[in-house]
Order: sequence, then C-alpha cells, then structure tokens
Amino acid sequence: MTAHAATSPSIGLASIGLSLPPLALPVEELAKLRGQDPQKYTLGLGCQEMALCPPDFGAVEMAVEAAKRALGRWDGDLGRIGMIVVGTESAVDMSRPLSAWVAEELGLRGAVRSYEVKHACYGGTVALRQALEWKLSGAAGDKAALVIATDVALYALSDPGEPTQGAGAVAMIVDQPDIAVIDPMSYPWSEPAFDFWRPVGESFPRVDGKFSLDCYKKAAENCFRAFVGDDDAQQKLSALAAICFHVPFPKMVKKAFLHVGESFGWDYELSNQIFSQKIDPNMGWNRQCGNAYTASLWMSVAEALAGLDEGQQITAFSYGSGFGAELLTLTAGPEAATGAWTADIEHDLANREHIDAAGYESLRDARLAASA
Ligand code: CAA
Repeated sequence: MTAHAATSPSIGLASIGLSLPPLALPVEELAKLRGQDPQKYTLGLGCQEMALCPPDFGAVEMAVEAAKRALGRWDGDLGRIGMIVVGTESAVDMSRPLSAWVAEELGLRGAVRSYEVKHACYGGTVALRQALEWKLSGAAGDKAALVIATDVALYALSDPGEPTQGAGAVAMIVDQPDIAVIDPMSYPWSEPAFDFWRPVGESFPRVDGKFSLDCYKKAAENCFRAFVGDDDAQQKLSALAAICFHVPFPKMVKKAFLHVGESFGWDYELSNQIFSQKIDPNMGWNRQCGNAYTASLWMSVAEALAGLDEGQQITAFSYGSGFGAELLTLTAGPEAATGAWTADIEHDLANREHIDAAGYESLRDARLAASA
C-alpha cells in the first residue's frame, strides 16, 4: 500500500455479487455461421463462449440479481445504503438512470443518491471511484454505496466484434473493506478519440477495431508507467498477486501487456512469464461470458480476489473507449480467502442453456423484433 493509503481510512469492497444471463453460445457455432475457421476465434482472439440474453432480459435484470446477491451476503441492511450508482453503456432510457430500475426492484428509496454513469467500459470503474471518494470524504457518514457494473455487448451481425460479444453484471458494496481495500491513489489516462462509440438512436456500436486496440495499448502503457514510477518495474509487478485488465477479448489483454513490457524494455519471455502467472489465470470467467463491457474488469477482479490471503495486492486496469482509463490497486481483506461470490458464477454457469448456430440466429431475430 502507498504511504497515502496508510494515512487514509481504509475503505473498499465489503461484498460482491455477480450475475450472468441464462443463455450461452460457443464461438465455434458462430464460426459456422460466418464461414470462419473456429481457431480464429479461439486461438486468434482467445474467446470460448459468449453469454447471451433472451429478448425479455438484459442489463436491468442482471444488475438486480447481482445487487440482491451482494446485499444477501453483506452483514449490513438496505437502510445503510446511501448511494446506488450504475455504470453501464446499455442504458434503457436517455433520462431515467438505470439505477432507478434497480432501486425500484430492491425497494431502495429515501436519503439515497441514485444515478447512472456512462463512459463506455470504464463507467463501472468511475462509479466505484466516486463511491470510494464519497466514503473517504466523510460525506457518506456511516452509509455504504452499492455500485453496479452491468452490460449487454452485442454487435451488428457479421461485425468483426461479433465473436467477442457477451453480457454480465457485477455488484459491489463499498464500505468496510472486508474483501479488499481500494487504494485512494490511482493512475488515470484519457485522450479524446473515436475508437468505439454508439450514436444516439443506434442499436449497435460503430467500431474502428484496429484503432481501438492502439488506444487500449497506449492507455495501458501510460497507466502502468505511472504506477511503476521510479521503482523497478519487474520487481513491482512480480510482487503483485494478480494483474487484472478490462477484457474486450483475452488475446487483446496479452497484446497490451506485451506492449507494456516492451515499454519497460523487457523481452518477450519475461512479459509472457508475468502474463501467464499474474494475468491469464484471472480471465477464466471472462472466457465463459465474453465481453461484458463495464463488468468485464470487475469480473476478472472478483475472480482474482477469491482465495487471496489478507494483505496480498492486485492491480485493476480499466479502459473505456472514447477514451478513458485508470489503474487501481486493491489489497485483499480478511474475507477475500472465502471467495463466497464464486458461488454466483458457478450457479449461473451450471444453469445456463447452450444454444447452437440456428438458435443464435433465432435469438437475434427475436431481439430485433422485440426492439422494433
Ligand atoms: N487460426 C488462428 N488465428 C487466426 C486465424 C486462424 N485460422 N485467422 C486469424 N487469426 C488471428 C489473426 O492472426 C489475429 O491474430 P493477431 O492479431 O495476433 O495477428 C486474430 O486472429 C484476429 O484476427 P483479425 O485481426 O483479422 O480480426 P478481425 O479484424 O476480424 O477482428 C477486432 C479483431 C478488430 C479486434 C474485432 O474483434 C473488433 O472489432 N472488436 C471490437 C473492438 C474491441 O474489442 N477493441 C478492443 C479495445 S477497445 C475496448 O476495450 C472497448 C471494448 O470493450 C469494446
């Protein structure tokens, strides 16, 4: 922990809940439809399965379920929630925040700040930072914040991003850091860019795929270099228990980390070794659900925290197109070792239905009809 963190009250994650939708498609099935070699998706992009939502199910339903699960394993009660904030790029209204739909389902009302944050895949992290800083400022009193990252990532049919689709939600209660302390110090980087955006009224994002990769790599380099500062990069990163990234698709994360390594003057072997030990093991859930935009990083963080001993430190690199990025550090608390929230993912993976190529086509038709 930094010197700054040591002098601040410790605030962080008191509870975590996760939710995945009830359908999934193996990427090999999509490859059949698009006439692609399945290995382009599995080896070239590192994808396995995409989580999919039925027509009447989406970001709200996943957010509600994740929130109920986080609240259910928290030792506080709903009356202590003084802020509900949802980070998403799957907004269901241009004015009414998605947090209002969730608060309604939870029965949360009264002296509660309720709002939505948008910054592409970075929105959930901004929401979390605001909750942390609200607590650290003293304005929260003894209230806690409920932060939710939830998204449905769908591309236009045959878009190059289609194999990276996914969905999921992560809810986090920000309060006493039973699961993890979030360091007040963080390392942001932003530059205005059109790498991935969705104009008002359009159903699917417009993407400059190759440019988005360059932006992501540039952001990662700058955030990690700020984190390392004048310290020895190899020593500093090797001391971490895990290094988590926003996961558009797993191969992207590897490319970005190799780029970060190059900027430190490392050879491929060293970067690859750190990637294999500290990064790859945290993307198991991401491979099962695909890109869940705002929720992707926090799914990886939730997977990494499960089973850590108190005091072990991890980093979380958040990226949102447009573009904005931030690197956070978290230190495991006494409850991290229990990994209680892994039960959510195990339950949802065990209970979801796998569909095939024909089922996927019908599903896309049905979603289109439902949104018309
Ligand atoms: N067997 C094995 N590998 C194969 C293969 C085969 N038969 N055929 C191709 N490949 C490999 C390619 O060599 C390539 O690997 P390398 O990059 O290591 O060379 C890989 O498969 C992908 O191939 P392409 O580059 O040709 O893929 P593409 O152009 O069809 O699509 C993409 C790639 C542009 C990233 C696309 O997935 C996309 O547009 N995605 C959406 C944007 C995105 O995810 N950007 C990431 C950063 S932005 C962000 O973070 C926001 C966000 O979440 C969306």
